Amino acid sequence: MTWSITTPIYYVNGKPHIGHAYTTIAADAAARWMRRLGHDTFLLTGTDEHGQKVAEAAAARGMAPKVHCDDMVVGWRALMDRLGITYDRFLRTTDADHIAVVQGVLTWMKERDLIYRAEYTGWYSIAAERFWTEKDLVDGKCPDTGTAVVEITEANWFFRMSQFREPLLAHLAAHPEAIQPESRLNEVLGFLRQPLEDLCISRPKARMNWGIDLPFDPDFVTYVWFDALLNYATGAGWSPGKALSATRWPATVHLVGKDILTTHAVYWNTMLLALGLPLPTTLFAHGWWVSTDGRKMSKSLGNTIDVDGLIEGFGVDVLRWFLLRDVAFGADGAFSYDNFLVRTNADLANDLGNLAHRATSMTVSWRGGAVPPLAAPGPAEAALAELAHATVASVADAMPRLAFHEALEAIVGLVRAGNKYVDTRAPWALRKSGDEAGVDTVLRTLLELCHLVAALAAPVAPGKMAELGARLGRDAATLDTFARDVVHGQVAALGGLTTGAPIHHGDPLFPRFDELPAALAPAPAKETPMAPEAPPTPAVPTITYDDFAKIQLRVGRIVEAAPHPDADRLLCLKVDIGEAAPRSIVAGIRARFAPEALLGRQIVVVANLAPRKLRGVESHGMLLAASDGDLLVDLVSVDAPPGSVVR
Ligand code: MSP
Repeated sequence: MTWSITTPIYYVNGKPHIGHAYTTIAADAAARWMRRLGHDTFLLTGTDEHGQKVAEAAAARGMAPKVHCDDMVVGWRALMDRLGITYDRFLRTTDADHIAVVQGVLTWMKERDLIYRAEYTGWYSIAAERFWTEKDLVDGKCPDTGTAVVEITEANWFFRMSQFREPLLAHLAAHPEAIQPESRLNEVLGFLRQPLEDLCISRPKARMNWGIDLPFDPDFVTYVWFDALLNYATGAGWSPGKALSATRWPATVHLVGKDILTTHAVYWNTMLLALGLPLPTTLFAHGWWVSTDGRKMSKSLGNTIDVDGLIEGFGVDVLRWFLLRDVAFGADGAFSYDNFLVRTNADLANDLGNLAHRATSMTVSWRGGAVPPLAAPGPAEAALAELAHATVASVADAMPRLAFHEALEAIVGLVRAGNKYVDTRAPWALRKSGDEAGVDTVLRTLLELCHLVAALAAPVAPGKMAELGARLGRDAATLDTFARDVVHGQVAALGGLTTGAPIHHGDPLFPRFDELPAALAPAPAKETPMAPEAPPTPAVPTITYDDFAKIQLRVGRIVEAAPHPDADRLLCLKVDIGEAAPRSIVAGIRARFAPEALLGRQIVVVANLAPRKLRGVESHGMLLAASDGDLLVDLVSVDAPPGSVVR
């Protein structure tokens, strides 16, 4: 059976950034690991190319949408290449086979009455390209994007998603491991506590025509998420009516960011249930990279991380290492260049680079560059061999669980033990005392350690580990074979090299960086020509002083912040505004702030707003925030005691 892993398909309009690089690197490292163990592995990635925003961006450039996509996709493919992604298919939702699958699914569902036409009135968010019900809105705005919504009545086509709530709950009860980490499963179960509505899966062409035509109604195109999610089926080679055994479905792992958990865990899974297809084995939602103040990165905040600059400055392997090593996969991570330097210097320049340097330089200087025999192993060598064996087991356990940080931590632990071993065994002293067998033993042990590390870490840092392998006389394919054999216990962890084989010494494998390379000097955020135009500012009506005086604004201090159990975009806050107990306020700011980054912040609260329920949680007030177009930039902050009145 195929071990397959997917990334989300990226909005073709977007400028690739560190978040996209993260998902894709993680998928690639896992795929490389599984592939070398001998699994039939399939890595699927691609671009999401339909929908209103793409149509608008194309129009702004005076291009047909497909021509615009053809142009934009070049940048995405190039990014994949620069990141060293070994994808098996790069799928575009404008590919002919995908369009055929989407239309086939629509017809199949329509024939079975899983799709029906109905008149619908709702609040439509242009930015999110979807309808919301009244209760979904946050402060009258789109809960996903914080932008204005308009009330629209129109006919549309609906997928009977509501029918599949019970079967989905039953599936998750039987397979709780299907959504990971566990906290994400709980989020999904929380969401499913409410009744599930049917899903609007069409858009009238009169409003937006850049999409896949509904095969049974020429007035509509397919809703972009319904289209995009089916990419996983197309990529697996499935189409309606095809025998499952002739496809790569079900996917083993869908890797997504936490912001698109619901669309996958609920929309996609119910679509699969309706189609009678098995559900993916694992849906893994990873965390976000945020800036050190807890804000999500964005171009207008000027806090984005320059992926190309990092690759040029440090090399792609260092970037891959850092992203997978620094943060537990699943949790959020705060990105700072300082931390990047500290972490990669410690792991790579000081620990791994140093070990490789010592092993190869001593072998070249003292043994003419030939692998010496393990002449006289003693307790120190036995202890290291045992640790090496345990490290193999830890890495082999962690990688298929996508616990990259655990795997890399185990590898770094072994490298550190290796450096300590050299210091303790002091081969230079052994040499002075004429103990040549001792010198051979230490050198052989060190070379074997480097070889093992190169084999274990290659899925994460393929280029550099291939280089290390080459210095030890092993090509990439031989390293892969060794990795498979060592994981399967067919060869000793420190038994991969051959006595007498040639060893090379070269420049430091990982140079130390004491400051940021020039390419990364913070530059003003660049504007992309495709940036959607800011909507025109609506005329603001004048109000009287009495109108204003009705609003009571107070200073509050955030004392608790937690994700809303049922809504990806909302945070539940407790805010001290000088009353007996803190106020509960629900705010649509989760895309911008990690909860922990908000604790202690002094903000301004509209204190006399009528209470209302937001996705089932009562909110008693509203926060003031500054935004730049669609983007929430910051909360209004005040340095005054909680409860102070703001006028
Ligand atoms: N097109 C949809 C996915 C459709 S899948 C059927 C989409 N595209 S996206 O380009 O906006 O985002 C793709 C991925 O990038 C998501 O998994 C998202 O979580 C991830 N990231 C975007 N910003 C991120 C960070 N700052 N940090 C980590 N990953 C984040 O959504």
